[in-house]
Amino acid sequence: MAKDVILALDFPTLSETLAFLDRFPDEKPFVKIGMELFYAEGPAAVRAIKERGHQIFLDLKLHDIPNTVKRAMAALSRLNVDMVNLHAAGASEMMRAALEGLTRPDGTRPLLIAVTQLTSTDDKTLKKELLIDTPMAETVRSYAQNAARSGLDGVVCSPLEAAEIKAACGDRFVTVTPGIRFADSDAGDQKRIMTPEKAAKAGCDYLVMGRPITQAADPVAAYRRAIQDFLG
Ligand code: C5P
Repeated sequence: MAKDVILALDFPTLSETLAFLDRFPDEKPFVKIGMELFYAEGPAAVRAIKERGHQIFLDLKLHDIPNTVKRAMAALSRLNVDMVNLHAAGASEMMRAALEGLTRPDGTRPLLIAVTQLTSTDDKTLKKELLIDTPMAETVRSYAQNAARSGLDGVVCSPLEAAEIKAACGDRFVTVTPGIRFADSDAGDQKRIMTPEKAAKAGCDYLVMGRPITQAADPVAAYRRAIQDFLG
């Protein structure tokens, strides 16, 4: 299975994003484009970054009725991105419709990854606002299993959950993990963090790293360090 470091391009404009990518002389990092850049600059931003030869994780977390998600996913698939995601809370019918929409006429498709519960949701919110009495860990595991049964490729999860997700959903079920920090880097607002070396041992497949690379004095050196620590 492919393993890689995905660089989170959390910049507000395409020009800042491209200026950042210009700093990489040799390698073409796998990158993540989120809502901020996509809603500001649209599909043109995806095309511009794709034209430079990057693999792209388009992190838009779709969640709507099955038919709408299917048609939206077909549009994203035509952008030739490599990975997209949705909320598993949309349930199995929506996830299966998403897969159908993503599949191109030649049978290829981007990887489809589920978000289980957002890490910003705590146990209290789960119970009091979402009215889910099942504890968080069990909810996350059950949503991941629904995603696996619906044919999805994996989930976004904490590196601390990766081993449990693999145990519940199978070793080939992909884990995409933010919350990665070098031992000597600032945690920022991330609370449950892991180093790239430990994440490799924990069974993470794709590390999502933003600030430890984008805010580093030398981003290229930080990216190379992450790749070296993770892939050896
Ligand atoms: O800068 P940092 O390494 O914390 O960036 C992590 C990236 O992963 C950000 O784009 C953030 O929005 C995203 N993310 C996250 N935690 C989640 C899901 C996504 O940090 N649970």
